[in-house]
Amino acid sequence: MEQYIICGGNALVGEVEICGAKNAALGILAASLMTDETVVIENLPDVSDTNVLIQAMESIGTVVDRVDRHTVRIQAGAIHSCNVDSSYIKKIRASYYMLGALLGKYRSASVALPGGCNIGSRPIDQHMKGFKALGANVKISHGQIITEANRLVGSHIYLDVVTVGATINIMLAATLAEGKTTIENAAKEPHVVDVANFLNSMGANIKGAGTDIIRIKGVEKLHGTTYSIIPDQIEAGTFMFAAAITRGDIMIRNVIPKHLESISSKLLEMGCEIEEFDDQLRVVAAKKLQKTHVKTLPYPGFPTDLQPQIVTSLSIAEGTSVVTESIFENRFRYVDELTKMGAQIKVEGNSAIIEGVHRLTGAAIQAPDLRAGAALVLAALTAEGESTIDDIVYIERGYEDFHLKLKALGASIEKAGNEKDALRARFKVS
Ligand code: EPZ
Repeated sequence: MEQYIICGGNALVGEVEICGAKNAALGILAASLMTDETVVIENLPDVSDTNVLIQAMESIGTVVDRVDRHTVRIQAGAIHSCNVDSSYIKKIRASYYMLGALLGKYRSASVALPGGCNIGSRPIDQHMKGFKALGANVKISHGQIITEANRLVGSHIYLDVVTVGATINIMLAATLAEGKTTIENAAKEPHVVDVANFLNSMGANIKGAGTDIIRIKGVEKLHGTTYSIIPDQIEAGTFMFAAAITRGDIMIRNVIPKHLESISSKLLEMGCEIEEFDDQLRVVAAKKLQKTHVKTLPYPGFPTDLQPQIVTSLSIAEGTSVVTESIFENRFRYVDELTKMGAQIKVEGNSAIIEGVHRLTGAAIQAPDLRAGAALVLAALTAEGESTIDDIVYIERGYEDFHLKLKALGASIEKAGNEKDALRARFKVS
């Protein structure tokens, strides 16, 4: 089992390049199944979630050539099955995007129920409601979601909750439905907009993505395209908190500063300085961090995917902070691990009450999920002494070369795959 071995205490200083957005990539990869022509996707992050989805697409006959580490050429004209039941697809949440894509193109799809990070109950009722509104039959049987339609006909769909997944999935299916679809109370996340832009570049007619009403005029078919994925808001935000928690100075390159506004505004309240440029942003943390309060919300609110990173940063801030999680009910599981490092955090319902401590101390901890795993790495980077973080497979689902990027910024971090590696890594970081 791979682990990170970290010796904390170094301020992170330098520049870091942000990858393409994982959660946009997952929607875009699935959407590329909807044309018989060649699609080239650039700025694709090389992380296990995207690689698993690519394997699943290959398992049904899609041809995927890796042009270079961040570019793939996809040919989905020879798909031989709309039944995706490979064991690996169950590991990722975004497998459900294959439902919308295949239903739209082939009027039939069957995909194993999605897995993904264990951050609370993750229903898919809104996805099913959307497909049904378009005229599809949807059922769950033997662990598969099966959806079929003779015709898909545009419809008016009001989402009961703001959901990124259902917004994208319905948009995929509706793109090739007959007539007009309106999605009301749609998610506005940057990756929803990116998937819409990608579909439009293939000939779709989608308007309003990025607002809460998306209007789609169905088209008969989609054509090939070359498309570059937007930068990853959450990876960028994670490095912003890495600068804050280590009292560092990081220039974060290849970002869209607008997507980072909710994060910048919290870091300013916490006493950091932020400098914005066209496609880069600098975070300087010269002073001790200060308390703040925050509630996670759909975009443009503060993202749930950065909740563990802000809680971790506030654990060493001056004063008492309250962080409320309003998207997923079980996203404070990492707090027990932070407590092992000396943090004083009490979880009450969906809020964490954080009494800032002077400093954290290194410990042996486990990554419970992707974002919490990244947050625990940040904790270890500021903690006194050595930490080991197990289960880093979660972190690698969504962060490309995480430890290498941190190392280039001056972190003492090594990755170890076995006992012998671990001994060597301990020697290197100490
Ligand atoms: C996406 O998950 C992301 N995953 C998550 O990122 C992210 O945390 C989340 O959006 C919120 O931004 C991918 O894009 C692959 P939702 P998703 O549907 O689509 C409820 C990461 O770390 N809901 O927006 O599954 C749901 O329970 C991951 O990169 C329903 O009630 O999230 C939640 O409370 C973790 N019924 C809320 O909506 C539904 O049918 C938002 O979920 C669907 C969702």
